[in-house]
Amino acid sequence: MKKHILAAILGATFALGACEKSPVLSESALIPLPQEITDGSGSFQLTSEIGIRLIGSGENLTRIGEHLAEKLRPATGFDIPVSFDSGEVILELTGSEDSEGYEIQISDTEVKITSSGEAGLFYGVQTLLQLFPAQLANTSVQTMDWVLPVGTIKDAPAFGYRGSMLDVARHFIPVEDVKYFIDQMAIYKLNYLHLHLTDDQGWRIEIKSWPKLTEIGGSTEVGGGEGGFYTQEEYKEIVAYAADRFITIVPEVDMPGHTNSALASYAELNPGVNLPNGKLDSVNHAPLDYEMPKKNPTASELYTGIEVGWSTFSTELELTYAFVDSVVQEISEITPGPYFHIGGDESHVTEKDDYIYFVERVQDIVSKYGKTSIGWDEVATAKLLPGNVAQFWALEENAILAKEQGNKVLMSPAKKVYLDMQYDSTSRIGLHWAAYIELDSAYLWEPTSYAKGISAENILGVEAPLWTETVTNREDIDYLTFPRLPAIAEVAWTKKERRNWESFSRRIPSHGKRWEIQGIGFYKSPKVNW
Ligand code: ACM
Repeated sequence: MKKHILAAILGATFALGACEKSPVLSESALIPLPQEITDGSGSFQLTSEIGIRLIGSGENLTRIGEHLAEKLRPATGFDIPVSFDSGEVILELTGSEDSEGYEIQISDTEVKITSSGEAGLFYGVQTLLQLFPAQLANTSVQTMDWVLPVGTIKDAPAFGYRGSMLDVARHFIPVEDVKYFIDQMAIYKLNYLHLHLTDDQGWRIEIKSWPKLTEIGGSTEVGGGEGGFYTQEEYKEIVAYAADRFITIVPEVDMPGHTNSALASYAELNPGVNLPNGKLDSVNHAPLDYEMPKKNPTASELYTGIEVGWSTFSTELELTYAFVDSVVQEISEITPGPYFHIGGDESHVTEKDDYIYFVERVQDIVSKYGKTSIGWDEVATAKLLPGNVAQFWALEENAILAKEQGNKVLMSPAKKVYLDMQYDSTSRIGLHWAAYIELDSAYLWEPTSYAKGISAENILGVEAPLWTETVTNREDIDYLTFPRLPAIAEVAWTKKERRNWESFSRRIPSHGKRWEIQGIGFYKSPKVNW
């Protein structure tokens, strides 16, 4: 009898030894790394009988459950019904808060994700999906065991604003590619997508009261391509798609510099000019009580190069503010998020006093339409309204000006998080005016000590912008974004005590496997053993 038991134990041990090592929760390739992971023993296996059970009430609960099921079905081939009745994978919403924190408990019979907020539950789902083998990324059925290690995860983000930015102005990015980018952001628990909608080379959002902005200003891009723009309906579609993934859109209209596409669309916005008959274009809806300026209405020419800092709105022209008012109003009406980005960078041909006057007036307009302004760090040279945000990209002294006014700083240091910077001198696209940014460099910085004088209490969060002077298609986006975006997502989510480059470099290859399965042409950094 005893012999039989011994033989059974030995048999089981050998059987286990012959298989792959069973997974250990704390060794999972999770990015961003959760706050706390506790290992248990054993494993949970997803079988064809499995279902997802929802507990709680929330308008998005079913959608979150379906999102999980849709990600699990293709590669497993399982039905995975979602219901409020039964299921071994449980999603429990315990409250109705904004909470982004969540907990996952995995036993050998059950997986349970709990959160007091829908966003938290969604992030728990993202973590759970990363716990499965990379083969889950396949769109065809894979015959294999879908096993999770037993244990517990407790997680919450370090920063409330974790963003990325797409410059859709230098090269227009079609709606489908923006949605694709949003999908990638969601996997890494990023929650703000800033759209740089206007620049010298292009105006990319329909403004109904100023239709030539897109007719003319949207008609080209860097290099002279055909450009493009989002209708307001398309913009709303992007906003809704992002919201379904707990991502808030931040629209940017860059001004008073970076405005050539508007100045090329409307002659009367150029300084010292007016419509020939001295009257306002009826579509402009501008107030009629401003002083009529001079003569010679000439629009500037469309621009397809990549120089910066040479254009400006006329800050003395009252029509400028009527224009800004219409633009801010129309965009604010279709933007549910709290922020409106007013740009404000590199206005090198705007007189300093004029710049300050302009920024302060535009802040008031944004505030009138119920939004909070964000501006690139130069805006802190003006008097900021309470609650407005300065986005640090270049000058520490500007970040300090914001802090001294009691305003928060959004951390986007160009030398660390500008996704358009080349990895090294051999990168096939990208610029390098700020730095070459290898993967370890994008990872190895700390927002709360990066800029002298700016510490945790002054910081709203972290954002990684992708400028598109050299980016023309999805392949280019993939190459510059991966693997750096996950590195920056971890900087934004995971507390500094938990972050570690060695650990990150061991976790990222598993994401590389998923990208390979999905056909995402990422940069195979030599700093990582892929
Ligand atoms: C910027 O890079 N000009 C904000």
